Order: sequence, then structure tokens, then C-alpha cells
Amino acid sequence: MYNPFSLEGKKVLVTGASSGIGKSIAIECSKLGAHLTIVGRNQERLNETFISLDGDKNNHNQLLLELTDYERLEFSIKELPVFDGVVNCAGIGTTNLFQFLTREKMQHVFDVNFFSPVELTRLLIKKKKIAKNGSVVFLSSIDGPINSHIGNSSYSATKAALAAMAKGMAVELAPKNIRVNYLMPGQTETPLIHNEFITEDQLALDMEKYPMKRYGRPEEIAYAAIYFLSDVSTFTTGAGLVIDGGFTLI
Ligand SMILES: NC(=O)c1ccc[n+]([C@@H]2O[C@H](COP(=O)([O-])OP(=O)(O)OC[C@H]3O[C@@H](n4cnc5c(N)ncnc54)[C@H](OP(=O)(O)O)[C@@H]3O)[C@@H](O)[C@H]2O)c1
Repeated sequence: MYNPFSLEGKKVLVTGASSGIGKSIAIECSKLGAHLTIVGRNQERLNETFISLDGDKNNHNQLLLELTDYERLEFSIKELPVFDGVVNCAGIGTTNLFQFLTREKMQHVFDVNFFSPVELTRLLIKKKKIAKNGSVVFLSSIDGPINSHIGNSSYSATKAALAAMAKGMAVELAPKNIRVNYLMPGQTETPLIHNEFITEDQLALDMEKYPMKRYGRPEEIAYAAIYFLSDVSTFTTGAGLVIDGGFTLI
């Protein structure tokens, strides 16, 4: 059956696959025929994703990895196959008022959200582990490239930096036919948005600000990742896609 979004036989690496958006991206990619390597830290949750993957389990792999452990990261890459797609989804949220930010706090969020996905991708490129015609996707956010909110300056900075890095990489890797794009979701229903700094009542009030009166669902971000991974977007590079139900329009 004709399906321009097919990922049949494509090898795709997804970090942050043990939860939320990354989990959904891995599952949806497997339904379209991709062979997944899923990366996470929590064995139990990563295994739950693995069990949910569609298709022959022999075509899928899982890798437990703390992405900020750069030595292990470099070591692990040697064992990996050549990928057609890489989705850098692992990330953390932070809430810190600007005046209470410390270098350590900023270093930590930059390590997880910026340096580790960039280093992973750099090593994959250097070791020729991304195929010609390959596609790299970063999870940025509307926070950073477009807007921000109270307590979110350092998180926003990591996501703006990722977007800028993706554009520079796109220019350099275009001659190799490797595309680099990034997603900018608004609030999406995952464990990341539920934390000690915000109550469920505050979240409900925030949701009212969204024109659609709801947050995004992880699969709505996954479908956008599939656009960038599939052959429908072979002339799209350095692009950022906003997926926020119209939030940043108002
Ligand atoms: N949810 C939103 O509203 C939203 C909006 C815009 C952008 N984003 C971005 O989307 C991405 C996914 O977010 P999410 O909402 O799906 O979050 P999530 O449900 O909290 O999942 C985060 C994932 O990142 C992994 N991770 C975190 N730190 C890691 C580290 N040091 N090394 C390896 N893996 C690590 C976690 O692994 P373990 O669980 O195994 O520890 C988990 O799989 C993030 O980059 C986030 O910034 C989210």
C-alpha cells in the first residue's frame, strides 16, 4: 500500500525512549516498519517500551545509557549499527528563578538537554554511524526559540541552543545528504510537566491559555518526528516545526 511516510527497514535510534514523547516516537516508528534502537536509563520503563514495539523483536534493540557519561557514550557507539534516523529526545525540565540559578544547576541542565545530544550526534557522524540520506531530529521546545516563562530561563536557553546547533549542523551535513531538523512542542502530556513546582490546579489554568483548551499528546509529537525521519521530507533541513495547538499565536 502506498505510504510516503513509511519507515520500512529504516534503522532508527531514539533516546529518552523510556518515557513520554520518546516512548511514543519509538512505538509509532515501529508501526511504520522501522527497526529501533531505544535508549533510556530506567531498565523497567525501557523494557515496557521494548515490549510495546511493533514487528519482529529481533529487529529491535535496547540500550541502557546515562547520556551524560561521555566515556560510556563513546564506548557504546562502537557497538551500534549505521542509522537512517536519530531522534534526540532525552531531556529534563527545570524550574529555577533566575536569581537562584547557579553555575552547577545550569551546567546540569545543559549537560542533559544540550551537550549530551550534541555529543551523541557528533560521535555518530564522526564514526560514520549515520547513513547518507539519514535524518537527525532534536527535541527543542517553543520555550527558548520562541518564548519562555517564569522559572524557565535555563531550560529555555538549552532549547534555543539546540535549535541554533541544528541549523549549523544542517548546513554542514547537507552535502552528505544528512538532514538535521528540530521539533518545538508546546506543553505535552508526559511525566515531565508534572513536578513539585507546579500544582495540578496551576496546570489546569495554564491549559486554558491554549486555544484548543488542551495540551498536546505524545503521539502528536511522534507523527511530526516521523515526517522528519521519512522520505517525505528529503528536501527539508535546518527546519523547526512548532506543535503547540496555536499557543504561540496568541
Ligand atoms: N513534555 C513537554 O511538555 C515537552 C515540551 C517541549 C519539549 N519537550 C522535550 O521533549 C523531550 C522529551 O520530554 P518528555 O516530556 O517525553 O519527558 P519525560 O517523559 O520526562 O522523558 C524524559 C526521557 O529522557 C530520559 N533522560 C533524562 N535524562 C537522561 C540522561 N541523563 N541520560 C539518559 N536519558 C535521560 C529519561 O530516561 P529515564 O526515564 O530512563 O530516566 C526519559 O526517557 C525532552 O527533551 C523535553 O525537553 C517536552
